[in-house]
Amino acid sequence: MSGLKQAPVIAFAGKGGVGKTTCAAATALHFASHGGKTLAISTDATPSLSHIFQTATADIPAQVADDLFFLEIGAAQAGQMWEKKFGRDVYQVFSSFVEIGYSDYVDFMASVLPGLAEEFMVDYIRETSCGGVWDTIVWDTAPLGQTMALLQTPALLNHHLRLAPRIYAGIKAAEGARETILDIIRRWEALSAADMAFLRSGVEFNIVAIPEALAINQLDEILGDLHKYDLRVRRLIINNVVQASDSDFLRRKAVQQQIYIKQLSDMYNRLRISQVPLFPHEIRGRETLLEVAKTLY
Ligand SMILES: Nc1ncnc2c1ncn2[C@@H]1O[C@H](COP(=O)(O)OP(=O)(O)OP(=O)(O)O)[C@@H](O)[C@H]1O
Ligand SMILES: [Mg+2]
Repeated sequence: MSGLKQAPVIAFAGKGGVGKTTCAAATALHFASHGGKTLAISTDATPSLSHIFQTATADIPAQVADDLFFLEIGAAQAGQMWEKKFGRDVYQVFSSFVEIGYSDYVDFMASVLPGLAEEFMVDYIRETSCGGVWDTIVWDTAPLGQTMALLQTPALLNHHLRLAPRIYAGIKAAEGARETILDIIRRWEALSAADMAFLRSGVEFNIVAIPEALAINQLDEILGDLHKYDLRVRRLIINNVVQASDSDFLRRKAVQQQIYIKQLSDMYNRLRISQVPLFPHEIRGRETLLEVAKTLY
């Protein structure tokens, strides 16, 4: 790779609705306000960065503030990235022995290799972080099930591909094809390995959770999965923490939360733990996001 600097990627993961996007947007604004060119990327199928930044959705980096840009990539776009990188080459080989139209072939590939789109999202973030354009990349991931599927795909794809050479070894590439099918598969394997290595060394995961029993149970599973893939978790963010209050209702809520906060602090004392208060207002736009950022940085 060239001598371009690699932008650190700060990812936010956790179950649905716990505040991933809120923390990601606040983090992006924080880094941008300190003079670093920052890109916030969402890979959620139902992204909400545009809502929180109060702008239109963007499928190419769109500017929100001075040094702050954001981008929402969906499965369709990731599919296009795959097509651009591999689709035509593989099709050329494929169509030399099976009569199949291009769009049927794309559908077929997506069905035999689930996770293709997700892998290309990871690949896109890796390329973006290596491109020398950004100082920091903030990654707002999809709710947990989808994120784990995403993180597993490079390994999964590698597994699929281990079988492929035996199947394809005897098949010659189409006349005029630039590469043999084995070359293409090897290129693909290298890509999977690079994406997995990037997830391990280039991405720092922040786990967002709320202080409730159910969330705590699920957290162990989340961290276990990340650990299984040797991914780095740096911080646990406990969100929606009720602060001292003059309302009896909120006081009782706070007492209950404190039990879970103590549990979390004991269980995960190897992680940096931050608490974000429950705000009485909606978090949207610069001012409220800066309030969240102040509690995180
Ligand atoms: N600390 C907070 N105080 C008040 N409201 C909050 C706080 N954190 C998040 N919210 C609100 O809770 C809702 C869910 O937050 P957010 O969208 O960030 O969660 P998410 O984990 O990204 O959800 P999803 O899994 O759907 O992507 C939003 O309406 C957000 O404004
Ligand atoms: Mg979200």
